Amino acid sequence: MSFPTTRQVRWLIKPAWFLACLTPFTWLTLAVFELAGLSLGADPIEETQHFIGIWALRLLLITLALTPIRLLTAQAWVIQLRRMTGLFVLFYVSVHFLNYLVPDQGLDWGAIVEDIVERPFITLGTAALTCLIMLGITSTNGWRRRLGRRWQKLHRLVYVVGILACTHFWWQVKLDTLEPTVYAGILAVLLGSRIVSYKRSKG
Ligand code: HEM
Repeated sequence: MSFPTTRQVRWLIKPAWFLACLTPFTWLTLAVFELAGLSLGADPIEETQHFIGIWALRLLLITLALTPIRLLTAQAWVIQLRRMTGLFVLFYVSVHFLNYLVPDQGLDWGAIVEDIVERPFITLGTAALTCLIMLGITSTNGWRRRLGRRWQKLHRLVYVVGILACTHFWWQVKLDTLEPTVYAGILAVLLGSRIVSYKRSKG
């Protein structure tokens, strides 16, 4: 099996991955301004919330899939895409949150606090965003050095984010639970693979 060189990863694969991660946001921007024949339909605020929420979740699952992919394929460079993908998750969730705060709720802080306290799926989403912000801030090499072994422990929070995000999705669906069940199933496989490799490394 051949491996890309460090130069190929830095100058080819990473920029291509960056553009790929940015594609849903580009699509959304074009649709917001009704360019290139795209549109968000009759309820643009709701459509934005759904579209960006789904992409945040997909990228989160892709971030979690990178380690098992590296283990299965022995392509160590794959792990170099993890931080960038994780930061894109934070970016997409922030857009999702801003869409909720400004166009959806009109910055009505009373209603927002009430929602966070009283609607469990919003509470879970906010908890997930809080964890992602902590992970984003400490994702730098400086924080990695400063925290030492505690860095890895802290970054296991990404598993909690996965569970919170899937539950958030599952909880707000009214009738057809197929889609959130599929995402939760993928998460279960990804977390299960962690448990298997942890047990193998101990035994
Ligand atoms: C890791 C964090 C989060 C992820 C991955 C996420 C993901 C999602 C997903 C997948 C959906 C469903 C989209 C669909 O129906 O197709 C959704 C809906 C929604 N999310 Fe989030 N979300 C997160 C955090 C938040 C936060 C922080 C808020 C606001 C405080 C929020 C508010 C909402 C709302 C209002 C909806 C639409 C509910 C409806 O249409 O009834 N989410 N989110």
